[in-house]
Amino acid sequence: MAQLFTPAATTLFRVAIVLTCLSIVSGAALAYVWARSGSTWNVGKPAPQPVPFRHDLHSGSLGIDCRYCHSTVERAADAGMPSAQTCMSCHSQVRVGASVLEPIRSSFLLGQPIAWKSVHRLPDYAYFNHAAHVTKGVACETCHGRVDRMSKTVKTQTLSMGWCLDCHRDPVPQLRPQDAVFDMGYEPHGTNLPDDVRAFYREASRRLTSCNTCHR
Ligand code: HEC
Ligand code: HEC
Ligand code: HEC
Ligand code: HEC
Ligand code: HEC
Repeated sequence: MAQLFTPAATTLFRVAIVLTCLSIVSGAALAYVWARSGSTWNVGKPAPQPVPFRHDLHSGSLGIDCRYCHSTVERAADAGMPSAQTCMSCHSQVRVGASVLEPIRSSFLLGQPIAWKSVHRLPDYAYFNHAAHVTKGVACETCHGRVDRMSKTVKTQTLSMGWCLDCHRDPVPQLRPQDAVFDMGYEPHGTNLPDDVRAFYREASRRLTSCNTCHR
């Protein structure tokens, strides 16, 4: 039978097939890496805020307790955001005329909330509750990182469903004694949690990973 294609054309054709396969595979791999990577979830990206508030100064250097500004974090689903009044308790005496604090002063005078931009925001169909975590020994640091060192507040975790489930399958290694929940830079002292806590979570992990715990 006569040759249909020249040898050169055959080689070219083979190369084309190999290249096509390679680009499909690497495209899929890239898509996978992209979907799993932190940047897709805005990890490390600050949001533009009306006032250049700094946790490193207020929590780190001044040592103000998280609850002073996020006052409902132990009793409600929402952590709560500070009102202008909370800021003015100091800033009516410290840096009184500073221009960066102008939005705070006008919110205070008008009695309006400050328009803080969310850094952490789950989609509406996912339910989260701070009190449920904070009162069970899950620390701010575990989910929000070293906030006391941030000059701009950023996400340190994806907050993806996979991230939630990773912990919900076996929370025990991530739990702290209740009095260390607000600590930053905490190191476990080798104090083991009581056996009944382990037994509890062997049972509870089924409830914690069922869809309607977070999708209600
Ligand atoms: C317990 C007291 C206290 C509270 C409450 C407080 N601050 Fe401050 N803030 C300070 C002190 C002290 C400084 C440092 C002043 C200085 O060094 O001149 C400061 C500095 C600042 C600065 C200037 C930072 C810089 O880069 O120089 C901003 C902006 C600021 N605070 C915003 C806020 C906001 C917004 C709130 C409310 C959410 C708030 N502060 C609540 C005590 C407080
Ligand atoms: C003096 C008040 C103050 C204190 C104390 C404070 N915060 Fe905040 N926090 C704020 C303000 C104001 C914002 C909004 C601006 C920003 O994102 O930086 C904020 C934002 C946050 C956010 C992001 C909120 C969002 O919408 O995504 C987290 C997380 C947070 N704080 C955690 C903490 C933790 C943990 C502590 C204790 C270590 C703490 N904060 C102490 C005032 C405070
Ligand atoms: C188990 C993980 C986890 C822990 C522990 C945790 N947070 Fe959060 N935080 C989140 C998630 C998830 C969101 C976004 C919630 C949403 O959009 O419904 C959030 C949002 C916030 C916000 C924005 C306001 C809000 O409630 O939506 C603040 C402020 C905050 N957290 C502060 C804190 C502080 C302070 C602590 C420690 C006392 C803490 N968080 C502990 C996961 C956590
Ligand atoms: C580091 C560990 C950890 C992470 C991360 C975590 N959780 Fe939890 N979660 C827990 C623990 C521990 C409990 C408390 C379980 C108990 O004792 O009932 C809990 C409880 C809950 C509850 C209440 C369940 C109930 O039936 O009362 C909800 C809702 C929840 N988590 C949602 C989430 C969501 C949504 C995320 C991700 C955005 C998340 N959690 C991330 C550890 C974690
Ligand atoms: C511990 C909490 C938690 C549990 C349990 C959970 N989810 Fe989710 N789910 C989330 C959060 C948070 C998001 C939003 C972040 C994201 O898209 O990953 C989400 C997102 C989703 C989405 C949208 C995904 C997308 O890519 O847009 C679907 C679909 C979903 N969940 C289905 C389920 C099903 C089905 C189950 C039970 C097998 C389940 N979830 C159990 C927390 C949870």
